[in-house]
Amino acid sequence: MRMIAPALRMLVLALLVAFPALAAERLTSPDGRIEVTVAVTGDGRATWAVSRDGRPLIAPSALGFILADAPKLDRNLAIGHVRRTRADSRWEQPWGERRFVVDRHAAMRLTFTETTRLGRSFDLEVRAFDTGVGFRFHFPEALGRMRVVEELTEFDIATEGTAWWTQGGQWNRYEQLYNRTRVEGIGQAHTPLTLRLDTGVHLALHEAALVDWPAMWLTRIEGRRLKARLSPAAEGPPAVVTAPFATPWRVLLVGDDAAALYNASDIILNLNAPNRLGDVSWVTPFKYAGVWWEMHLDTKTWATGPRHGATMANVRRHIDFAAANGLRGVLVEGWNRGWDGDWFGHGEDFSFTESAGDFDLAEAARYARAKGVRLVGHHETAGDIATYEPQLSAALDLYARHGVDSVKTGYVADAGGIRARTPDGRIVYEWHDGQRMVRHHLHVVEEAAKRRIAVNPHEPVKDTGLRRTYPNWVSREGARGMEYNAWGSPPNPASHEATLVFTRMLAGPMDYTPGIVSLEGRGGMPIAGTVARQLALYLLIYSPIQMVPDLPENYERVPAALRFIREVPVDWEESRMLAGDVGGHAVIARKDRATGTWWLGGIATDSPREIRLPLDFLEPGRRYRATVWKDGPGGPKDLRVETVEVRGGAPWTVSMAPGGGHAVRFDARKGEAGGPAARPPAAKRPERR
Ligand code: NOJ
Ligand code: CA
Repeated sequence: MRMIAPALRMLVLALLVAFPALAAERLTSPDGRIEVTVAVTGDGRATWAVSRDGRPLIAPSALGFILADAPKLDRNLAIGHVRRTRADSRWEQPWGERRFVVDRHAAMRLTFTETTRLGRSFDLEVRAFDTGVGFRFHFPEALGRMRVVEELTEFDIATEGTAWWTQGGQWNRYEQLYNRTRVEGIGQAHTPLTLRLDTGVHLALHEAALVDWPAMWLTRIEGRRLKARLSPAAEGPPAVVTAPFATPWRVLLVGDDAAALYNASDIILNLNAPNRLGDVSWVTPFKYAGVWWEMHLDTKTWATGPRHGATMANVRRHIDFAAANGLRGVLVEGWNRGWDGDWFGHGEDFSFTESAGDFDLAEAARYARAKGVRLVGHHETAGDIATYEPQLSAALDLYARHGVDSVKTGYVADAGGIRARTPDGRIVYEWHDGQRMVRHHLHVVEEAAKRRIAVNPHEPVKDTGLRRTYPNWVSREGARGMEYNAWGSPPNPASHEATLVFTRMLAGPMDYTPGIVSLEGRGGMPIAGTVARQLALYLLIYSPIQMVPDLPENYERVPAALRFIREVPVDWEESRMLAGDVGGHAVIARKDRATGTWWLGGIATDSPREIRLPLDFLEPGRRYRATVWKDGPGGPKDLRVETVEVRGGAPWTVSMAPGGGHAVRFDARKGEAGGPAARPPAAKRPERR
């Protein structure tokens, strides 16, 4: 036996070299439009390329790895065994932008084998969807412990175009305004990176299922060639894994326009593993108020003292506001010990189990529960996981004891400034999206899941769709949020949100915290846009947990806005982006999962906009009463609410002031054409494993 295996291998290698026809494999999407070609060049380098309708999108681009203690894995490769499969299924989400996700793709898995005496091999698994492509590498057990210095994956953008991107490896993590440049102007970018080719086709580059591997940045190396750069490690190579191992998926989303690109983003979820947590009925979408905006306004402090926000009196005030308006949660920041002094640089001071002097967690939790409200926990680490990790179990146990079933975490530190402990006890400084933090976040999510707690990290690692596998990973920040409108220099321009929708939001839910109806930041600094826009953001920037962040007294001054916020759902049966352009405008329709009611939201950037759309998501011909929250002529704070009768399929005009917004609820008339209000079918059990 022992003698046969090497002989067979030599035979396979000889055949591979002798039959170059085996050197390219093609995979076509189910609708036949997208074609992926995996090939090897003359010197045996692996490449991938993508075309749509016969026109190239990704020119032949490199694949491979540089290893720290073995020769590079990038040439003298031959394509060996190829297995092809197809899938056409749908699965149910426990919560989300839509209840059912369709997974329709063609797949191939190829084995690359070195034709040299080394004879190492690895697999490439490729999936072609009608709206994009994903591929990942499988390292077989024979590769053992791998210290990966570089991933050589490239994305050579085949035609000219415009790119929207934030800078990878920059001090401010992901909290940046987007650069808009030609593709040739990209430096080093985070993903999702969105492109509008001059042909009008929109692309996004991202990754899915980022587990136990560093996040991928994209560095432009020449022309329109972008190359993977793995987020660094404090010590040694960026990725150290033990085979067998599957890398995250590298993903290309494709759409005819910006709206289609957004609608293509389910691919990210499809490339993640099914729910691993079993029964997740305890993960609840909700809205929450909190002791938060006042600290960002600097009228209150996280630190104890005369302006401490987390006093019992103030917390009760927010709980009362939440209870009166049907909001399930109340976030209390500054509740624990460690905020006094310069907390930003002193994560080692934080205790996650001891309350600050003037706060009583047990009493606050009791008061909240008596009013039908839950506290939302808060763990700001200042990026010091060396202090946080040893306390994590006890901190989550404490919350579980008090019925706190969601926690917002925070990692405020400059990028590259995560303070972590090595296995031998030394302190090192890591990146927010390096392999160490990828592991950390999943560890927190798994520990929280054991206690039925949902997690919402700020200054997180980017979203790659792991909410499918871990449905308690409900949201995250990971972009420049509303907080910059309190103190940002500059605050967020109106174009920012219309850019986020088609960039960051392709990745998954964001805790943006819309709804600052006062339109004022610190010292009255004006916030770009209108009150109607603040409302529309609840529909445009998806999250199953949405904050209602303004001060209670500010909402009380705008009851029409508060009514919208009370009523707007956070969990959807279906979502359809109807129109948009990156940074310009976006209009979406969403169907409430609980009632079947359709909602519509629109935002615009600079100029006033009138967008005409057919109401083709409604039942054709059926009558609806539309309640419209829209911009009035009297300036940004002029919110108008009107009701009009419409019919399904009829044209609808979304009218928005510069920086404005438009939000609508469509209530079906009972007993009209089409019968009683369309209700979703009886709930089935979401996917479990
Ligand atoms: C940054 C978070 O994004 C913000 O929401 C929070 O208030 C501060 N960190 C303090 O934890
Ligand atoms: Ca932040």
